Amino acid sequence: MEILKVEKLSKYYGENETKIKAIDDISFSVEQGEFISIIGASGSGKSTLLHILGGIDKASAGRVIVDNQDISSLSEEDLARYRRRKVSLIFQFYNLIPILNVRENILLPSLLDNRKIDNNRVEELINILGLTEKKDKLPNQLSGGEQQRVSIARALMNDAKILLADEPTRKLR
Ligand SMILES: Nc1ncnc2c1ncn2[C@@H]1O[C@H](COP(=O)(O)OP(=O)(O)O)[C@@H](O)[C@H]1O
Ligand SMILES: [Mg+2]
Repeated sequence: MEILKVEKLSKYYGENETKIKAIDDISFSVEQGEFISIIGASGSGKSTLLHILGGIDKASAGRVIVDNQDISSLSEEDLARYRRRKVSLIFQFYNLIPILNVRENILLPSLLDNRKIDNNRVEELINILGLTEKKDKLPNQLSGGEQQRVSIARALMNDAKILLADEPTRKLR
């Protein structure tokens, strides 16, 4: 089954002479259960594409179809639900909330979605990602790699159908 279909997608920034084509007319599709990677030099539009697929940025042209639904046709409310339930994004620059500790950052999407917290799952993810000693720390008390692991745990906590990972291991060395 096709879970994701991208049709003639483009994203432009700026106008006329200063116009940047961050994404220029791309099409592809992904089957459920399939794992794909996108490779390209920095500035080639990888993050822009993932942000559009994740519903946090809008395309200039083209369509993104997830589970047979065009996400550009969703209302703001449905788009918020899409972001919380259908897709999970591991951000290139983590986007952790500075005033929340590790455990709270991991739980935040579930809390915003009024979901019942599965405490075993939280502890399991904290352990798998090696964050047991750090779970009460704030993001600015963590290394880059540790912050990246928190953002991975937060994304996995969502149990979404599509996991979008933007250079998810670049700090894990
Ligand atoms: N908000 C923005 N305004 C203007 N240009 C942008 C913006 N975001 C990204 N770009 C440009 O779009 C291009 C693709 O960026 P990006 O998607 O971050 O690339 P990558 O993730 O592959 O390094 C770059 O040329 C970048 O400068
Ligand atoms: Mg990027």
